[in-house]
Amino acid sequence: MDRIRIVGGNHLEGRIPISGAKNAALPLMIASLLTDDTLTLENVPHLADVEQLIRILGNHGVDYSVNGRRESQNEGYSRTINFTARNIVDTTAPYELVSKMRASFWVIGPLLARMGEAKVSLPGGCAIGTRPVDLFIDGLQALGADIDVDSGYILSKAKNRLRGNRYVFPKVSVGATHVLMMAATLARGETVLENAAREPEVVNLAECLIAMGAKIDGAGTSTITIEGVDALSGARHRVIPDRIETGTYAMAVAMAGGDVLLEGARADLLQGALDVLAQTGTEIIPVNSGIRVRRNGAGISPVDVTTEPFPGFPTDLQAQFMGLMTMAKGKSRITETIFENRFMHVQELARLGAHITLAGQTAIVEGVSKLKGAPVMATDLRASVSLVIAGLAAEGETVVNRVYHLDRGFERLEEKLSGCGATIERLSS
Ligand code: EPZ
Repeated sequence: MDRIRIVGGNHLEGRIPISGAKNAALPLMIASLLTDDTLTLENVPHLADVEQLIRILGNHGVDYSVNGRRESQNEGYSRTINFTARNIVDTTAPYELVSKMRASFWVIGPLLARMGEAKVSLPGGCAIGTRPVDLFIDGLQALGADIDVDSGYILSKAKNRLRGNRYVFPKVSVGATHVLMMAATLARGETVLENAAREPEVVNLAECLIAMGAKIDGAGTSTITIEGVDALSGARHRVIPDRIETGTYAMAVAMAGGDVLLEGARADLLQGALDVLAQTGTEIIPVNSGIRVRRNGAGISPVDVTTEPFPGFPTDLQAQFMGLMTMAKGKSRITETIFENRFMHVQELARLGAHITLAGQTAIVEGVSKLKGAPVMATDLRASVSLVIAGLAAEGETVVNRVYHLDRGFERLEEKLSGCGATIERLSS
């Protein structure tokens, strides 16, 4: 299994190109199931999760080509990919595939809307919490679907098309908002989704669906209105820049020191997190080509944060921010409200010399003047990258094991960081 070796202590200087967002690309790819025309997506990141979803969609009959040709493995940065679901050959998403990536469960929305049926495996738990699917079931039932749960599968049917309705999410959910919005595009009549997720990825998906002929109003606010249409067509659409990758590298600069241009980044996609970073003493300068992040020798100020749905501080940056706070000049409190078990990085950061205590859903971080490199274990995607950025600031060598988590969500991580002067390499085994 590959490992990443880092020798900490270098400032980061230069530029890092920001890739297309994983969490925008995945639902956009799934939207290709809604039409028999070709959906062309630009700026799709080259990541293990994207490759896995290509395989899953292939199982339903979605054909794809990269820049007009079949893709050879392991090449390049973000790409343009054409997805064509001319014929849906299978409406079942089996356990073997869904269990590998939770987002693949989201195929239930388009399959049900277009084919009138879908049999999708329950995704099961994962490292960051139980992550139930009750909101998907309730919401699809509100649109008239018949749903049974049997032997680990959700069997859903909508004999005479889904029917528009009003649905109030009892809790904000990005995935359930994606799914109900996609399903409602082909339903009969009007759907109103209230307490919907406002994440930029929801807006990116809505814009794509609109380009495909859907009638959607209000994406980006908590009320989304969808007027169903009979069919959607193909379109060409661009994946937004990855706000989590942007925030991660901004925190890496804040922690290691230096001056880096995050090329192609958009400040409006993560203003809440950038405001918090500015409070730590990091300079955040939006420029035409992206965001410039700069920190000099002055210390890092501690800041308390609580994760929240957009536009609040994102849970997907919580681990990285905790990494930064381990070296702050004082005590900070980090509260996780989205997932109940997203503190797996605490023990690993402690191996680097961090002082963190847990009190329920809050981590109390006592800043230390330096971290010291050590072997650490990656537990999930964002936890893994928090260990990488802590390693960049730590004295000596850090080896991060189980880096396949990183490959799920960070395109060319070692190359991007070493291009800015970090000593970081992949050790293949
Ligand atoms: C998306 O997951 C992201 N994944 C996650 O990023 C991200 O952490 C999360 O949104 C929150 O921002 C993708 O976009 C692929 P949710 P999602 O439904 O949609 C509960 C990463 O590292 N809930 O918004 O699965 C749920 O348990 C990943 O890139 C229910 O209770 O998250 C959680 O507590 C990790 N019932 C809360 O809602 C449901 O039916 C929010 O989860 C659905 C969700």
